[in-house]
Amino acid sequence: MKKILILIALILIALLAWVFQPKILPYYEQLTKERVGLNVDLQPKAQKEAKFVGSKKCQECHKEQYSAWNHSLHSKMIQDIKKDSSVVVADFSKLPKDADFTLKEAVYTIGSKFKQRYMIPAKINGKDDFRLGNYQWNVENKKWQHFKPYKYWYKDAYKHDNHEFPTSNTCDGCHFTGYMSTQKRVEPAIACESCHGAGSKHVEDDNSPIYKATMADPIRATEVCLQCHMRNRDKKLDSNISVKDLWAIAKDYPYGYEAGKPLIDYKKVAPFTLGKETKEFWANGAAKKNRTQGNEFVHDTMYKHGITCINCHNPHSLSNRADKPEGNQACLKCHSFGSVIGPHQSSIEAHTHHKANSKGSLCIECHMPKTARHTGKSPLTVRSHKFEFTSPSETKFYKMPKETNACASCHKEKSLDELQKDLESWGMVEWGKKN
Ligand code: HEC
Ligand code: HEC
Ligand code: HEC
Ligand code: HEC
Ligand code: HEC
Ligand code: HEC
Ligand code: HEC
Ligand code: HEC
Repeated sequence: MKKILILIALILIALLAWVFQPKILPYYEQLTKERVGLNVDLQPKAQKEAKFVGSKKCQECHKEQYSAWNHSLHSKMIQDIKKDSSVVVADFSKLPKDADFTLKEAVYTIGSKFKQRYMIPAKINGKDDFRLGNYQWNVENKKWQHFKPYKYWYKDAYKHDNHEFPTSNTCDGCHFTGYMSTQKRVEPAIACESCHGAGSKHVEDDNSPIYKATMADPIRATEVCLQCHMRNRDKKLDSNISVKDLWAIAKDYPYGYEAGKPLIDYKKVAPFTLGKETKEFWANGAAKKNRTQGNEFVHDTMYKHGITCINCHNPHSLSNRADKPEGNQACLKCHSFGSVIGPHQSSIEAHTHHKANSKGSLCIECHMPKTARHTGKSPLTVRSHKFEFTSPSETKFYKMPKETNACASCHKEKSLDELQKDLESWGMVEWGKKN
């Protein structure tokens, strides 16, 4: 009898342990992988002499990845207007009179989802290059807006004139495959070899290894995304020169980087100091601009514990997007209620203090508030990749606009102080910590 009771107790304990286990277990191997260090070159030796061949070659053997990628916006970042004029999303009949370009002159579109800009062939510094039109189409409010690309950290390195501002140094490394390391526009947009490196050797002999980010430790895996999805400075600025010294050559991408190489050797990350607001970041580190996912994420506990961009985004189909977020499941596949990695409460209502089916119970509404914009005149639509909860008192402490706070973004009628009181009344001391 006693034995049976013990057995039942053991089974019960096992059952409870199983029910409350953190769902992180399937990722155990990933999270505990040995760290190779940020300085180690992981590019397979065979790839060192390889050339860029373009995605059509990869399609022959990797139809599934090709099709997923081909439907994603990575494949549509740069589109050829002469091949297909329907790629233009702007209304050119409303283009302002002082525009310095026409649709006829434009060769490529840049982007399509939030804004579209136009590349026009130009000779700059004696080189065949591209310039940008002085107007961009804002998709979010369907309006033409002035565009002065030189008004950025490199403003002292370029003439304040769109005609003299080359895309080669300031855009193309991130938008054309191969340009980052070879300075040749091998293929428009972000194709296979942007993330896997040059493929000629692998195409000739499929036993010849090609880089795959997840071959190494997770911190390094995230680098293939960070090469582009992270605000930076010209790496040359590491050697104590000023932006002026980079006249006409300042680069805004990690020039020379190829997938597998140590990104740290090529990338100078945009500076940020906690407590100091800049043009790119709020004083707590949340983004003010788009393309800042990496800058935010590398400060997050999840990054430090080995979570990568591709734990939440399929690298080929680019799942989990603003227009199609995956919902709470994207988080709950690792986070279960009451688990060691949190949320520490036993149910969704106990954690969020909103009804289970309320918008106030969606993880991303509180953990990825909209803090950033796509242009100076866009609404706040870009969600932060700083997943740690920012309390109303923290928003006040760092003098951030009220609407960047998750609670205040829905409860517009309440002040930050009132919302902080609401939070504290829910009984979690830590929520008041930044008072
Ligand atoms: C002639 C057929 C062929 C072509 C062309 C080809 N591959 Fe492969 N690839 C293979 C085979 C076979 C494998 C090994 C089987 C597997 O893991 O799927 C492979 C594996 C891979 C892997 C996984 C590597 C790993 O270590 O897990 C990647 C990434 C890859 N290929 C990318 C590419 C890219 C990018 C291109 C175009 C530049 C390309 N392949 C062109 C046949 C090909
Ligand atoms: C934005 C970066 C990116 C682009 C672009 C990209 N890949 Fe990948 N690819 C990855 C990552 C990261 C992995 C590792 C996925 C994993 O381990 O779950 C991967 C994995 C693979 C694999 C291994 C099998 C698999 O699906 O995990 C193959 C084969 C592959 N990619 C081929 C391609 C081909 C062909 C293209 C172009 C049509 C391409 N990739 C474009 C990032 C990219
Ligand atoms: C070579 C530069 C580059 C690399 C590498 C890159 N991206 Fe991107 N990514 C872009 C650009 C540019 C866009 C905007 C595309 C557009 O709007 O057409 C984008 C868009 C996206 C989007 C939004 C897609 C949509 O439909 O709105 C996601 C998600 C994304 N990238 C994730 C990743 C992940 C994850 C990785 C790493 C596996 C990665 N990217 C690597 C440049 C890059
Ligand atoms: C360091 C890499 C990098 C550089 C340099 C860069 N971009 Fe991008 N760009 C991205 C990434 C990544 C995205 C998508 C992610 C996001 O917007 O948050 C993007 C998004 C965009 C979009 C919006 C796409 C859409 O579908 O709405 C436009 C337009 C754009 N970039 C134009 C430019 C222009 C013009 C330049 C040069 C003056 C430039 N970018 C320089 C990486 C870069
Ligand atoms: C813990 C999960 C998670 C991680 C890790 C993560 N993301 Fe995201 N990301 C999301 C979710 C969820 C969204 C969609 C939210 C929204 O924009 O509505 C998103 C949105 C995006 C978008 C905007 C897509 C669009 O539609 O414009 C880009 C680009 C992006 N992520 C890139 C990255 C990159 C690069 C990394 C790694 C540095 C990364 N993400 C890491 C969950 C994640
Ligand atoms: C109504 C806002 C809200 C929603 C919705 C929300 N959270 Fe939280 N979350 C918080 C707050 C507030 C904290 C506590 C921060 C602190 O203590 O500093 C927190 C903390 C966490 C933590 C840290 C560990 C802990 O328990 O303190 C994790 C993990 C977490 N949330 C995951 C999630 C997941 C997964 C979802 C979706 C199922 C979610 N959250 C939905 C507000 C929210
Ligand atoms: C692949 C697994 C995985 C996924 C998916 C995931 N997380 Fe996490 N998360 C972790 C791990 C591991 C930690 C670190 C736990 C710790 O340190 O106790 C963590 C920590 C956190 C924390 C607390 C630490 C911090 O920086 O604030 C929050 C909040 C959080 N995650 C929110 C989310 C949200 C929101 C999503 C969905 C958009 C999500 N997570 C998706 C694994 C994951
Ligand atoms: C995505 C929108 C959204 C977010 C984010 C959100 N709420 Fe709510 N909140 C709601 C809605 C909708 C209700 C109505 C009742 C329900 O759905 O549970 C509500 C109800 C409430 C209530 C009870 C009714 C009232 O107004 O007094 C309080 C208190 C509250 N929220 C505080 C907060 C706090 C504090 C935060 C930040 C941690 C927050 N909410 C985040 C949408 C949101």
